[in-house]
Amino acid sequence: MSFINKRKAWTDSKRRKWKEFFEEQKRLRSKIKEHGSDILESENFQSSQANVQHGNMTVHQHCINVTKLSLKLSRKLPFHFNERALVRGALLHDYFLYDWHKKDPANEHKNLHGFYHPGIALKNAERDFDLTDREREIIKKHMWPLTVVPPTCREAWVVTMADKYCSLMETLKLHKGHGPKLIKVKSKSHYIELR
Ligand SMILES: [Fe+2]
Ligand SMILES: [Fe+2]
Repeated sequence: MSFINKRKAWTDSKRRKWKEFFEEQKRLRSKIKEHGSDILESENFQSSQANVQHGNMTVHQHCINVTKLSLKLSRKLPFHFNERALVRGALLHDYFLYDWHKKDPANEHKNLHGFYHPGIALKNAERDFDLTDREREIIKKHMWPLTVVPPTCREAWVVTMADKYCSLMETLKLHKGHGPKLIKVKSKSHYIELR
């Protein structure tokens, strides 16, 4: 094969991969809208665009990324999943509605956020939406093993795994977002925003 043909084959395969990637993203977005449009459009969920999760990833984008990955994983596994519960539970898994880096009356256990926020997210989600038992389980157990008792449904296991993967990628700055960058001021043990 000549150099020009090799280059053309390489460009074609790249183009095909990008096309597949964008088509998959489109399919995932439409599935999320189908099951969770009320959540996506709600004022409180929208407000999580102002809160940082890890790195400069907002809580809002983190929850959408976890939902997309959960859907992708569930389609690769040979089990039946309740897709609606999976989407809604994943969207609401971090519905704690404050910036955990900052002092906030809603964040009373600031240094133990990892342990307490599933319960806070569940309380907020129950107040704002009608939840099924499966959706409750996803939100309540997504921080397992910190939450000690393991998840009791497949959907909760998948969201737990997807959340851990996304959180790691954000912490390592391999997944970047569009939120403000926060840096920790060691002497004062709080965070300041870098713009
Ligand atoms: Fe969480
Ligand atoms: Fe999360």
